[in-house]
Amino acid sequence: MTNIHPTNIYLSRSDKEHYLRQNAKIIWITGLSGSGKSTLAHGLERKLAEKGYFTQVLDGDNIRTGINKNLGFSDEDRTENVRRIAEVNKLFLNCGIITINAFVSPTNDIRHMAREIIGTDNFIEIFVDASFDTCAKRDPKGLYKKALAGEILNFTGLDAPFDRPDDAELTINTDTLTIDEGIEKAYEYVKAAVRW
Ligand code: PPS
Repeated sequence: MTNIHPTNIYLSRSDKEHYLRQNAKIIWITGLSGSGKSTLAHGLERKLAEKGYFTQVLDGDNIRTGINKNLGFSDEDRTENVRRIAEVNKLFLNCGIITINAFVSPTNDIRHMAREIIGTDNFIEIFVDASFDTCAKRDPKGLYKKALAGEILNFTGLDAPFDRPDDAELTINTDTLTIDEGIEKAYEYVKAAVRW
């Protein structure tokens, strides 16, 4: 690009990781609406914070009321949604932060793009696996009821696709595990990656 000159980073990511005593990682939680992504993200954050780790949670509804409030749920907008989020993650990574994302990020293409932007060594993908029927039964926001009545279009798992991840580092099945068991499983995996 002409006339754009990104500044060099004088205090490096590894300097910041050293001060924070942690390895920065991006935790990327994917799954259907209502599968338990946000519950897992916040539970995992609490456990990490209690052990002294410096973290940040980003999730769909929050990002979509702020930085991405101009985006909807077409394939193109979902791709742009995740692209911007992945770029934000890169900034957080350079701050040494452990960032926990909870986004539907419905296709392998979209998740591969996020992994590529962020860098696969930094990226831990967690698939929160729950069947469409389970999510529709939970329906914590009443969205399934509306989508099944035809009041929401492009609803993930109904008239918009959800690919089961082909390269997730970890799968947590919330049909069979309790919330605490799922959080513990994620924590054990993440702890080993972020430990200084
Ligand atoms: S995506 O696919 O990654 O761009 O989606 P994301 O940014 O995670 O936003 C998902 C949240 O938006 C609400 N919502 C919908 N989800 C899926 N499909 C449609 N059509 C839709 N419309 C609104 C819903 O609250 C999602 O939040 P979660 O936490 O997944 O329930």
